[in-house]
Amino acid sequence: MIKVGRGAEAPPFLVMDVIATANARAAALPPGAPKVIRMEVGQPGTGAPQGAVDAAAAALRGGGSLGYTEALGRPSLRARIARHYADWYGLDVPASRIAVTMGASGAFPLAFLAAFNPGDRVALAAPFYPPYVNILTSLGLQPVVVETGAETRYQPTIAALERLGRLPDGLIVASPCNPAGTMLAPDELQALAAWCDANGVRLISDEIYHGLHYSRPIATAAACSPHAIVINSFSKYFSMTGWRVGWMVLPEALVRPVECLAQNMFISAAHISQIAAEAAFDCAAELDGNVARYRHSRDRLLTALPQAGFPDVAAADGAFYIYADIAARTNDSVGFCARMLEDAGIAASAGVDFDRARGHRTMRFSYCGPEADMAEAAERLRHWRG
Ligand SMILES: Cc1ncc(COP(=O)(O)O)c(C=O)c1O
Repeated sequence: MIKVGRGAEAPPFLVMDVIATANARAAALPPGAPKVIRMEVGQPGTGAPQGAVDAAAAALRGGGSLGYTEALGRPSLRARIARHYADWYGLDVPASRIAVTMGASGAFPLAFLAAFNPGDRVALAAPFYPPYVNILTSLGLQPVVVETGAETRYQPTIAALERLGRLPDGLIVASPCNPAGTMLAPDELQALAAWCDANGVRLISDEIYHGLHYSRPIATAAACSPHAIVINSFSKYFSMTGWRVGWMVLPEALVRPVECLAQNMFISAAHISQIAAEAAFDCAAELDGNVARYRHSRDRLLTALPQAGFPDVAAADGAFYIYADIAARTNDSVGFCARMLEDAGIAASAGVDFDRARGHRTMRFSYCGPEADMAEAAERLRHWRG
C-alpha cells in the first residue's frame, strides 16, 4: 500500500460543506418558493468596490503584461499598505516589512513555517477559525486549545495561558474574531503581546476583521511588538474575497525567510488582484457604506434573536457574526442547523466546526448578506420553533 501524508488527514472546513448543501437546496427550490437565506457564509454580499473594479478593468484593457510580481508583492501596493497603517493606526510601518499574500489563507502557512518548527505548540482560543487548527496540524505543529467563554469575550487571557503549564511556542489571536465576533481591548492586546515577548512566544495576530467593528476601538499588534506577525486581507472590509489577496506585517527577521518561502510556494499573489487591491484603499466611502449596512443588520438581529428563542449570544463587537449558545434548545447543533435550513430556509453554521468540545450546543449566524434578507431571517426565526 502506498502511504498518504499527514495533510491527507486534514479535516474539512465544514462551513464550506454547509455552503454546498445550501447551494443544492437553493437550486432545487420550486419556482416561487421562498428563497434560502444565507447566514452561513463569512463573505460580504457586495462585490469589490467600484474603484478596484475600474483599476482591474483598466489594467486588462491596457494590454500590459500581467506577469508574476515580486514575491512580497508590487512595491506600490506594499507602500500603500504601509500608508494604511499611518492612516488607520497612526503607526509608522516601513513598506519593507509588508508581504502581500494570497489572502489571509495564503499568509498562514508562510507565517507558521517561518516562525515554528515541527512539533512546536501554538496556543489559540476556542471557539476558533477552523483552518488555524487544520493548517497547524497539517504542518506538523501542535495546536493548544484554550477554552474561552463570554466572561473573557471568548478571547485568551494571560492567566489562561499560564495555566497551560508548559508555555506554548506561539499564540494566535484574532480581534474581532471568528466565530464569536468579539474583540480584545487595546490594553489586553498590548498585555498579551508584552507577555509573549517576555516569554519567547511568537504572537500571530489575525486582523482580517479590522474595519468591521461597531462599538469598541481596534488596535494592531504591529503597534505592540516588533516580533508579532500581523495577518490581514482584502476579503472582509474591502469586500474582495474572490480576488484572493491579503498581507502580512512581518518582524524584520522574518521578511527574507517569508520572501524565500513565498517564492517557492506561490511565486506571487495574482497581479491583477494586487492592482485592484491598491485602488480599494481609495474607496472608503463605498466600503464604509457596507459597514453601515452590517451595523443595521447586527442591531436588528441583536434585538430579534433573543425574541426568537436565542437569548444567549456573544457580544457582537465586530466582524459580521453572532455566536449563539443554543444549549437550551438542542445538544446537536448540526441537526438543529439542518432543520433550520429545511424548515425555515435559513442556512447557518453549527458550532462543531469552531469548537470541537462544546460546539454541539453553539451555532454561528453570519449577517453580511443583504439587509432585507437579514430582516426576513429575523422574521422567519420568530415563527420557527425548531
Ligand atoms: C478569522 C479569519 N481569518 C482568515 C480568513 C481567510 O480569509 P481570506 O479570504 O483572506 O483567505 C477568514 C475567512 O473567513 C477568517 O474568518
